[in-house]
Amino acid sequence: MRDLIDSDLNRQLIAWRHDFHRHPELADQEVRTSQKIREILTDWHIQLRPTQLSTGVFADIGHGDGPTVALRADIDALPIQETSGEPFSSETPGVMHACGHDTHIAALLGGTYLLKQREAQLPGTIRLIFQRSEEDKEGSLQVLADHQLDGVDAIIGFHNAPFHPVGTFSVHTGISSGAIDKFKVTLTGVGTHASAPQNGIDPIAALGAEITSLQTIVSRNIAPVKAGVLSITHITAGSTWNILPETAFFEGTVRTADKDVRALIKKRFFPLVEQTAAAYGVKADIDWYAGDPSVDNDPKLTAIVQDESGKFTEPFTDELGLGSDDFACFQAHVPGVYARLGNGFNVSAHNPRFRADDGVIAVGAKFFEANAQRLLSELNRQQ
Ligand code: NI
Repeated sequence: MRDLIDSDLNRQLIAWRHDFHRHPELADQEVRTSQKIREILTDWHIQLRPTQLSTGVFADIGHGDGPTVALRADIDALPIQETSGEPFSSETPGVMHACGHDTHIAALLGGTYLLKQREAQLPGTIRLIFQRSEEDKEGSLQVLADHQLDGVDAIIGFHNAPFHPVGTFSVHTGISSGAIDKFKVTLTGVGTHASAPQNGIDPIAALGAEITSLQTIVSRNIAPVKAGVLSITHITAGSTWNILPETAFFEGTVRTADKDVRALIKKRFFPLVEQTAAAYGVKADIDWYAGDPSVDNDPKLTAIVQDESGKFTEPFTDELGLGSDDFACFQAHVPGVYARLGNGFNVSAHNPRFRADDGVIAVGAKFFEANAQRLLSELNRQQ
């Protein structure tokens, strides 16, 4: 593959990526990471934007006239013990950049450097969003509440994509990730001796029935051509062999790619859980947490980003998955495009053996630089 960016800059970005990788920080704790980003931007004479947030870095390039395009990279790591074997593996026990956000940071730094070189010619403003806390799904909402997207006309971001070679690119128009919901249910019966179940109300029997009946929402209530998944991921009940416990607990998640299916699953969930519990004489307490909506790429902007990125990447096609990214929360306020760039390794994200090829950094830097300039020109034309 031809050089997409200057080789000295590329070497520097790779060195920074390795440093971020060695020193990963969990969501909401990205103190060192933020400090380092601030130092680099300040060295480049880039004006930081004030923030009330303890981590994350925000800045502007440009001269205040014309449209504003935001570029977003997420910066947090995961609670995973790294076993990738990379020479620059995590030096923090139990914490790892297992989603490749270290490559996103380095790519955005690269794009920033290149755009800063052309600052005088930029037909507008570039807003830099080094976003905290993507993995616990609160970060983008905090960034919005901190007014970092005020005045922004369009936003772009990317995620590195396992199972696709470096230099490849994919973007979908419209809905392109899952919406997330989460549930927790506590079933309360009456505890008793295991030899005398007639003296109590067994929540474990009810728990078994709940697991079975909840599977019917997706299989019996959703049209076969529509997508949705409901997974029960954690159950607990009891503590020993001769006591029937007082309570049983289960939790899990719902992922959907369609607003109506999302609403339908929630609508079916409550009566099914409550009435199944009632049938067993048990009380059900349900906590439902609505998470991020789906990534929803703006059709016009997607066409532009697709065309521009096609000048330096090869397209890859992928199935629509129901994973999620809180980039979706930005898109609820500002039209945006979220793309995927091949990372060159065949290991899933969130795996302790996760790796991403350093080559994705130059592609990502070019992605930010080229698309930011193109979007500014196109937005100017529309105004
Ligand atoms: Ni990620």
